[in-house]
Amino acid sequence: MTLQFSLGSAAPESVDTPCVVVGVYENGVLTSAAARVDTAAHGAIKRQVESGDITGKAGTTALLFAPEGVTARRVLVVGLGTQKTFDGARFQRVIIEAVRALGRLPIDSAACYLTDVDVPGHDAAWRVRTAALAADYAAYRYTATFKPRDKSAQPELAALTLAAGNDAQAGLDQAVAIAAGVRFARELANLPPNICNPAYIASQAEQFAGRHDKVSCNVLDEHKMAELGFGSLLAVGRGSANKPKLVVLEYKGGAEGDKPYAFVGKGITFDTGGISLKPGPGMEEMKFDMGGAAGVLGGFIAAVELGLPLNLVCVVPAVENMPDGDSYRPGDVLTSLSGLTIEVLNTDAEGRLILCDALTYTVQTFQPRVLIDAATLTGACVVALGKHATGLMSKHDDLAAELVAAGEQTLDRAWRLPLWDDYQVQLESGFADVANIGGKNAGAITAACFLARFTEGQRWAHLDIAGTAWDEGRKGLATGRPVSLLVQWLINQASQTQK
Ligand code: BES
Ligand code: MN
Ligand code: ZN
Repeated sequence: MTLQFSLGSAAPESVDTPCVVVGVYENGVLTSAAARVDTAAHGAIKRQVESGDITGKAGTTALLFAPEGVTARRVLVVGLGTQKTFDGARFQRVIIEAVRALGRLPIDSAACYLTDVDVPGHDAAWRVRTAALAADYAAYRYTATFKPRDKSAQPELAALTLAAGNDAQAGLDQAVAIAAGVRFARELANLPPNICNPAYIASQAEQFAGRHDKVSCNVLDEHKMAELGFGSLLAVGRGSANKPKLVVLEYKGGAEGDKPYAFVGKGITFDTGGISLKPGPGMEEMKFDMGGAAGVLGGFIAAVELGLPLNLVCVVPAVENMPDGDSYRPGDVLTSLSGLTIEVLNTDAEGRLILCDALTYTVQTFQPRVLIDAATLTGACVVALGKHATGLMSKHDDLAAELVAAGEQTLDRAWRLPLWDDYQVQLESGFADVANIGGKNAGAITAACFLARFTEGQRWAHLDIAGTAWDEGRKGLATGRPVSLLVQWLINQASQTQK
């Protein structure tokens, strides 16, 4: 169920709600909403601060049930950490913890006053947008492949009122559109690989296009791609019974003839490694190897929902990488759509092999003004940056800066790695124009260097989301990254070109 959001400006002590949410800093300083509730409730919050039951430590929560003097049935007190170091990332985190706590209560709505607190460097619209996105993120539940549960069991959180004036409405509208894109991406990526195969991704894109006038969808099957010369992409898909698809979505929100922005997303619906088979433990996580596809599709959906005044294309190579009697093998030399030949040294470096043909196709077909790809491309990127930052590589300093800034704005952050030609020697081959792996050093960069050979002359950036597309662990879910980053960047582009 998606959360319904509204803005409210009722006083926190007299708002009629099953639960009012207020914040307390670590040194016992109450936010103004907490102070008002505390005064009306005859010091009920301060007493718990003094007793040490409420510490104000970031992300902690405490519940007051039916305190006298307050209209709300419950008060959820959320720790904000020390006031001096309070920032945007902390704000996002405490909202997530607050909504998780609300989710454990038998209530269907709540009123949140955390959007009233000061976040240095950000305005009310930002606070509302960030809070709504974080709340929707925390409220998401994956249910698609569980036995249907009895719905009447307990009420579920369905509505959240955020304390703010009407000047924050635009922020809320943006959040609702972006949240729809994030949810789409998460749901698609969470689905098991026996459901979310290339044909399934294509059908999802077609269904979306069918619901929107300005959107069209074209799916190339393996025969069409063979005719056009997608030798690299098709080699990766050859071992699978689930045949490859190239999904092409177009949104015409801008002027006719305006060059489009283009997104390309890696859509490996399952990555066994192929003949260079991956080890067994953890292999199930490779269902998330279509996280780039999910991310660019989610970004596309959000851009359409926002009605952004620009043209946008989204291209998804959807392929399964399996070992089989007909699989491609190490040593094979492939002829890519660009004409460049590729020596396969490892069939597990398959992402770049489907992306190179998708990138070539996108450049040749659309001559995009800017091209951005997102891919769960390398384990090396996870080693370099961990699970918090997306790897960003581009030869265009201004584009890289724009993307870093968009990531900061939405807390969907990316960090740049160099894409110098110095690294290109690692991809030299004795048998083809390029090898598909670059050795043990700088694996995230050499993967991007491989893609760079297929995007020469094009304004292009690459996002390696191997560490950020899903949370690790048995119950780790898809994150929907980098939907927010991409959409924020488009929003910024649209506002610049209109000026
Ligand atoms: N999908 C993987 C990358 C990956 C690994 C993403 C772990 C997230 C977590 C990709 O196709 C792959 O297997 N890459 C290889 C490349 C290597 C063979 C050069 C890798 O990273 O090990
Ligand atoms: Mn692989
Ligand atoms: Zn892969």
